[in-house]
Amino acid sequence: MKALILAGGAGTRLRPITHTSAKQLVPVANKPILFYGIEAMVSAGITEIGVIVGDTRAEVMGALGDGSQWGAKITFIPQDEPLGLAHCVLIAADFLGDDDFVMYLGDNLLEQDLAAFVHAFESARLSSEPPTAQILLKKVPDPHRFGIAELDAAGNVIRLVEKPADPPTDLALVGVYLFDRTINDAVRAIAPSPRGELEITDAIQWLVDQGKIVRQELLTGWWIDTGKLTPLLEANRLLLEVIEPRVDGDVDEASSLDGRVVIEEGAVIRNSTLRGPLVIGKEARIIDSFIGPFTAIGNGCEVVNSEVEHSVIMERSRIIDITRLEDSLIGREAEVIRSQKRPRALRLMIGDHCQIDTE
Ligand code: G1P
Repeated sequence: MKALILAGGAGTRLRPITHTSAKQLVPVANKPILFYGIEAMVSAGITEIGVIVGDTRAEVMGALGDGSQWGAKITFIPQDEPLGLAHCVLIAADFLGDDDFVMYLGDNLLEQDLAAFVHAFESARLSSEPPTAQILLKKVPDPHRFGIAELDAAGNVIRLVEKPADPPTDLALVGVYLFDRTINDAVRAIAPSPRGELEITDAIQWLVDQGKIVRQELLTGWWIDTGKLTPLLEANRLLLEVIEPRVDGDVDEASSLDGRVVIEEGAVIRNSTLRGPLVIGKEARIIDSFIGPFTAIGNGCEVVNSEVEHSVIMERSRIIDITRLEDSLIGREAEVIRSQKRPRALRLMIGDHCQIDTE
C-alpha cells in the first residue's frame, strides 16, 4: 500500500497568509497541517509516500525533506496547474504503478487514526467480492460545500456528486480515499467538471457505473477541511484540547500556568498568566501578558504586555501592548504593536511580514 498526499492547492481562502507560504504548512497546535497527514500514513504502516506539489513546491519540499524524519520515503510529484484531484492520480501514475493506495488531501485533519480504515480495505480486498475503492463519509451541516454520496438501503454507494446546489444527502466525502489500480482507468475516462477540474468524485462515480464495488465507512471522530480561518482555529482548538502538558521552558515565580500548557525548550515566561490549553514555541518570550485558551504561539515569538486568546501566531512574530487579540491568525515575522492603550479588541487575519500599528 502506498500513499498519495495532495499538497499542491493554492490556498486562496487563507490569503494573505498563502501569498507567502503554503496552506498545508500553516501550523495548528504549532505543527504544520501537512505533518499530521504524513504521521497518519506512517502510523497506518504506509511509508512509501508520493506528495503532489504545486506553486509552493520549494517550501513543501524543504519542510518534508526525503521523509526520513518519519521513517518514510517521500517522492515529490509536481503538478504545474491545479487541474483537480483526479488529475493528481493521473500524473502520479509512474509512482503508483499497480499498487493499492490511500489518497489523502493535505489540508484535511482527522481525529481518528486511519489504520483501522486502511486495514478494513485490505481485508475486504481479500474477500470474494473485493472493492476497488473505499470512501470515508461524514454527516455535515453544509453539504453543498463538499462531494456528496448517496447510498442505497443496504449502504452501497450508488451516486456521488461534487458540491451539489441541491444536495441529495448530508454525507460528505472526507479527503481520504482508498483505491486499487482501477482508479487509473477512471481518471483517464472522465471529462473536466464545470469548474474545469478532473474531479475524484466523478472518477469514483465512473467506478460505480462500471459495476465496481465502492465501500464506504462513516467517520465518527471530528474532521476538518482547514482551508479557511474559522475551521483552522477550530482544528487548533481540538488538537490543543488533547495535547500532553509539558514545561521545558523557563517560567518565573510571578507567572502562573493553568490547564493543559506546553512550553517548549528555550521559551521564557515572565510575570504572565497562561491558561491552557495552549502551546508556547521554542525560544518564545511571554512578558507581562495573559495567554488564554486555544492559543498556539510559534517558535521565537514575543508577546509583551498583551492578552492573546483563541489564536494562531506563527513563528517569530511580535505582539506588543495589545489590550486583547482573539480569533486571529498571524503570519510569520509579523508585528502587531500598539503605542497608545485603548480598551478595544482586535480581530485580525494578517499575512507574513505585515505590520499593524493601531495608533
Ligand atoms: C475536495 C473534494 C470534495 C471533498 C473535499 C474534502 O473539495 O472535491 O469532494 O468533499 O475535498 O475536503 P475541495 O477542497 O477541492 O473544494
